[in-house]
Amino acid sequence: SLEPPKPIVVRPDPEEIDDGKTKVTIFFGTQTGTAEGFAKALAEESKARYDKAVFKVVDLDDYAGDDDEYEEKLKKESLAFFFLATYGDGEPTDNAARFYKWFTEGKEKGVWLQNLQFGVFGLGNRQYEHFNKVAKVVDDILVEQGAKRLVSVGLGDDDQCIEDDFSAWKEQLWPELDQLLRDGDDAAVNTPYTAAIPEYRVVFHDAASAPSLDRNMSIANGHTVHDAQHPCRANVAVKKELHTPASDRSCTHLEFDVSRTGLSYETGDHVGVYCENLIEVVEEAERLLGLSPDTFFSIHADHEDGTPLSGSSLPPPFPPCTLRTALTRYADLLSYPKKAALMALAAHASDPSEADRLRYLASPAGKDEYAQWAVAGMRSLLEVMAEFPSANPPLGVFFAAVAPRLQPRFYSISSSPKMAPSRIHVTGALVYEKTPTGRIHKGVCSTWMKNAVSLKESPDCSWAPIFVRQSNFKLPSDTKVPIIMIGPGTGLAPFRGFLQERYALKEAGADLGPAVLFFGCRNRKMDYIYEDELNNFVESGAVSELIVAFSREGPTKQYVQHKMMEKASEIWELISQGAYLYVCGDAKGMARDVHRTLHTIAQEQGSMDSSKAESMVKSLQMNGRYLRDVW
Ligand code: 2AM
Repeated sequence: SLEPPKPIVVRPDPEEIDDGKTKVTIFFGTQTGTAEGFAKALAEESKARYDKAVFKVVDLDDYAGDDDEYEEKLKKESLAFFFLATYGDGEPTDNAARFYKWFTEGKEKGVWLQNLQFGVFGLGNRQYEHFNKVAKVVDDILVEQGAKRLVSVGLGDDDQCIEDDFSAWKEQLWPELDQLLRDGDDAAVNTPYTAAIPEYRVVFHDAASAPSLDRNMSIANGHTVHDAQHPCRANVAVKKELHTPASDRSCTHLEFDVSRTGLSYETGDHVGVYCENLIEVVEEAERLLGLSPDTFFSIHADHEDGTPLSGSSLPPPFPPCTLRTALTRYADLLSYPKKAALMALAAHASDPSEADRLRYLASPAGKDEYAQWAVAGMRSLLEVMAEFPSANPPLGVFFAAVAPRLQPRFYSISSSPKMAPSRIHVTGALVYEKTPTGRIHKGVCSTWMKNAVSLKESPDCSWAPIFVRQSNFKLPSDTKVPIIMIGPGTGLAPFRGFLQERYALKEAGADLGPAVLFFGCRNRKMDYIYEDELNNFVESGAVSELIVAFSREGPTKQYVQHKMMEKASEIWELISQGAYLYVCGDAKGMARDVHRTLHTIAQEQGSMDSSKAESMVKSLQMNGRYLRDVW
């Protein structure tokens, strides 16, 4: 009989093999930790499957100090995976920004990655216009430059269940890796892999001798640079409600005091805020865990002798503290539990029927039910724990596998350092909604802001660890260049900063070009935020024209894009003069509709056909004259 043809296997360059092992690099571009978690999970699972390879998980920012080093090191890679999240307006995460800029804009290099075999998994959200743009772009360029794609680009969709997308992508990947990293006759090829449940080592302390968290978090924190890993503690100096009592919603104006912190910012930047869970939420978690709030403990990702725990893809431990503090500051208790969390709960459920049900929901067979029950049902982790009362994980498992770390929330800063050098202003709408199960979901950070106690009210005021994230949402450097700003609702935030900046520039004698602001809200008497300030900006000339769309005053809805159509010729004229366009606010509705309106204006005013209008808007974008800060 004929032998089946042997598969052609491209073996990695022998030079890259260290101790006979193939080196595999797994890169991640992460903002909230999901991409990093996936990168580490791939490394862990791969280690268990292939002992002929070494897997290294690398932060894209730490990989290389400059563009040349990226090039030099990438050239030497033979097998690499990229986990890349896409944010806001099709942007990479902070830690991937430098790499992405170089990789997409760096000079044409031809075919220089022919030694590389790779796979890309993207993390995005299908609701957004630029779904997984970063992953798609990197995947394309890698191929263009000669690298061999092992598996088609994974398009993780956070709107559905991104863990399922990751699992499906891995299923495609394993056969490819089996060929590369295992001998054909390796019996282990068919051994199924089951992920171990991660767990921190927990040490319980005597509360009296334990260090206090507050002392751990000193004002400047000992760091000169503040980022997500090194936030700095900032007091809430001022808090104000921006809606009138007639409104049934709420929007908070908060000022963080950043004097003596070393924290600085520019107009248009974002602030990341590590907020706290509500006490009622924390108490419920304490009850479900059956532990006293005073339990003082620390978590460790290593053994007592300092060697790392096996499978230690765990996030760095938080400082020693009470259970009350750990649940308040470090645990995400209100998001729906990931499948891995259900598996961890199942492993610690004493009632076998509960364990079975949890495992089923986390299994491929239970996929649709999970999507309905957990995702669409918006079941919080606490709701799920209450539904499965026999599942009682120990603290080391709870913080490693059940409750994800509470992530910082990002806000567009609504002040300018020219007006408020020692304050960072935030403008946040309250998230308060009824979920399909009847739970009232209170947004963690917006609720914390609404309840914050300011220094004005008490010396014992609220504070939060915060840090600044730079953005490219900036005024033109030439103050005479016209600008058009479109920001309904809290989309006004960065423009308040812009106008403060222009006001200060004007006071200092600068010559200002025209500035048109389109703002939108429901009703002048309810949610016209910063009305007095905006009128003052008109008076002082910081803004030359203020146009407001009220959506719930008259018989028909008036939105910012309707007002833009009314002003189409003026907008067109300003664009022809070189105006910069800025849009801030909701990406799924408003920003998309405003984008379409821009096309229409270009078509009608510039007498262009649709494709001409499209390329014109594209070129505005490419030239940095059409900037969006959308979420
Ligand atoms: P609505 O709530 O009455 O629909 C700030 O949130 C303002 O943006 C509100 O007046 C809101 O109107 C309006 N808005 C809602 N969807 C919008 C969209 N797709 N485009 C522009 N504005 C929108």
